[in-house]
Amino acid sequence: MSDATTRTAAVIPAAGRGVRLGPGAPKALRALNGTPMLIHAVRAMAASRAVSLVVVVAPPDGAAEVKTLLADHALPERTDILVVPGGATRQESVKLGLDALPPGVDIVLVHDAARPLVPVDTVDGVIEAVRDGAVAVVPALPLADTVKEVAPVQDAAPGTPEPVVATPERSRLRAVQTPQGFDHDTLVRAHRTVTDDVTDDASMVEQLGLPVVLVPGHEEAFKVTRPLDLVLAEAVLARRRATDGF
Ligand code: CTP
Ligand code: MG
Repeated sequence: MSDATTRTAAVIPAAGRGVRLGPGAPKALRALNGTPMLIHAVRAMAASRAVSLVVVVAPPDGAAEVKTLLADHALPERTDILVVPGGATRQESVKLGLDALPPGVDIVLVHDAARPLVPVDTVDGVIEAVRDGAVAVVPALPLADTVKEVAPVQDAAPGTPEPVVATPERSRLRAVQTPQGFDHDTLVRAHRTVTDDVTDDASMVEQLGLPVVLVPGHEEAFKVTRPLDLVLAEAVLARRRATDGF
């Protein structure tokens, strides 16, 4: 695919509740330094000159509120924005976002609203790898923690000791982030074909038997999941303001 003729769109699933963050508004609508997480995430996608369309997948009953939020915040003029209501699972929400894409989109990024601070260089690196011919590209980082596999314990009370069954070699593991980038037709086919519950889009492409490649992720592309992540995200924004002046 040549640079001049490809059209790249980003789908942002933002329909989750944010149960692990605790009670409050849907996670994507909560503020980081006064600006909703979703706005940061849309700006992060629109920061890439290659991205000409952003599809925001809003909480099922929150599409009107999300449209108002988007209208109230400055976003680059060159980027078109669509809002669609999401579904009960992340996978369903992504599918609803894909369904809303107009004809002519060649490359699709899928980016969690919950990763509001991904740097534009990471976004561009993913797009470039798809342009270079990969059908599925995932930004990823080595793990800091060793990971243990445990045996499932049925109906155990929280805190019950869990038996360890294996310790995968840490150097062979990667923690994956978003935006994940795809050849459009491949991702659409994956979403039509795979019905298992999955937590990332690339694993659906793996299930089709197609190759998925990793490119370097970034520590600022971490997912806001638990309350401490909000503290970290605001610290990153404060550091950016101190170093970039905005
Ligand atoms: N997501 C979505 N639709 C859902 C569930 C999740 O669009 N039905 C989105 C979230 O809004 C988020 C991304 O998928 O941007 C990653 O999911 P996660 O971090 O798990 O967010 P939540 O599901 O909102 O959080 P939790 O699992 O703690 O409830
Ligand atoms: Mg979730």
